[in-house]
Amino acid sequence: MPAITLVGAQWGDEGKGKATDLVGNRVDYVVRYQGGNNAGHTVVIGDQKYALHLLPSGILSPDVVPVIANGVVIDPAVLFEELRGLQERGVNTERLLVSANAHLIMPYHRALDKVSERFLGKGKIGTTGRGIGPTYADKISRAGVRVQDTFDPKILRKKIELALNDKNQILTKVFNRRGLDAEQIIEEYLGYADLLRPYVADTSLVLNQALDEGKTVFLEGSQGTLLDIDHGTYPFVTSSSPTSGGACAGAGIGPTRITKVIGILKAYTTRVGSGPFPTELLDEQGEWLRQQGGEYGVTTGRNRRCGWVDAPLARYATRVNGITDFFLTKMDVLSGLERIPVCVGYDVDGERWDEIPMTQTDFHHATPVYEYFDGWNEDISHVRSFEELPKNAQAYVRTLEEMAGAQISAIGVGPGRDQTLELRSLV
Ligand code: GDP
Ligand code: IMO
Ligand code: MG
Repeated sequence: MPAITLVGAQWGDEGKGKATDLVGNRVDYVVRYQGGNNAGHTVVIGDQKYALHLLPSGILSPDVVPVIANGVVIDPAVLFEELRGLQERGVNTERLLVSANAHLIMPYHRALDKVSERFLGKGKIGTTGRGIGPTYADKISRAGVRVQDTFDPKILRKKIELALNDKNQILTKVFNRRGLDAEQIIEEYLGYADLLRPYVADTSLVLNQALDEGKTVFLEGSQGTLLDIDHGTYPFVTSSSPTSGGACAGAGIGPTRITKVIGILKAYTTRVGSGPFPTELLDEQGEWLRQQGGEYGVTTGRNRRCGWVDAPLARYATRVNGITDFFLTKMDVLSGLERIPVCVGYDVDGERWDEIPMTQTDFHHATPVYEYFDGWNEDISHVRSFEELPKNAQAYVRTLEEMAGAQISAIGVGPGRDQTLELRSLV
């Protein structure tokens, strides 16, 4: 009966893929509801490592139905490449369902994403260059191309020709780039129709029927709360709604179906791309976190910016998502620190703030106010219960729990599926 939502509580890369995979054998459907192949989710099962971008992490669990819902933007070439990669490794991908209403990333979206970033110069967002922003922009301005359009050659042709009317003007006259050939794009995208057809479904109907039958639907967010188009550090955000509210619109289910919201919170903070990040460490301490935590992007290979955990940020995530449970990941990475700083508030031009400042200008000026907690030296990656954790690690968890405003129900002590302490059942 329940729908359970999983959201990133920071700026992405909190370990959502691992968390989703962990519950994969206990749920019936795993649904991506927003974003596209800007995401990079690493799942480690035994000695096998998988990097997923567009496919729901549940695809690796044999009994789950993975769903790409209406709120996702799909680059079809990437979709089929990712499917092929998994098939070659023996993963059965036949169960996948793709919404007929999901929008398609087109070659001109990728071109515009890259060129507009280049023109922003120092003001660039640092996007993944996958065409995400321009695709969502076209969706909102009602000029998008959807999965179902590939089934209607006349409509597909009309939409692509219309889109190129102005996209080519912009590419050539504003950005001084070469225009794109309509016929080539039409041919490519018509070619996807037969490949897509076996997967395409009315996914909102399927999910609602499943819920009526008492099945469990797990809604897997990508990106994170602070990258949300409404609730993130705008304009340094992605162009969709990773927050739990976005799960309803993006999957076509009502809010009354959702019984639990799991926030994935990393024991420290990272961010990729531009934008404010008060606890960022630009010194050797940041480099230490990057190396200990392996903080290099799964999608673009960029170094992730690293810093200490930020309690007001976690509290904010609890608030805007209605988080009921946290999964605290990467606790093992903090082993070996004499003391661990936790940001408990901000100093904004001499004024103390306990919550994220209302305006972006103030947030840009925010410097963290820290409290310090005693660290631990033990390697905790083999620990399997809360009681086995060093006392100082237990205290760190309890402190974060109190500051973040929701119970911590699971703790990650390594990338593996089994390297998890489940304090209470997540699903
Ligand atoms: P996502 O985008 O939220 O799915 O996260 P990413 O996969 O981009 O980044 C998280 C990284 O941390 C991946 O390499 C995971 O394998 C790894 N990871 C997840 N949980 C843990 C944990 O508890 N400890 C350690 N050491 N690594 C973890
Ligand atoms: P997962 O799901 C971290 C960031 C980009 C950039 C901004 C906008 O792995 O947590 P976009 O290409 O979406 O228009 O880029 O958002 N970004 C992510 N950062 N993890 C992600 O996904 C991200 N997806 C997008 O770096 O700053
Ligand atoms: Mg990631």
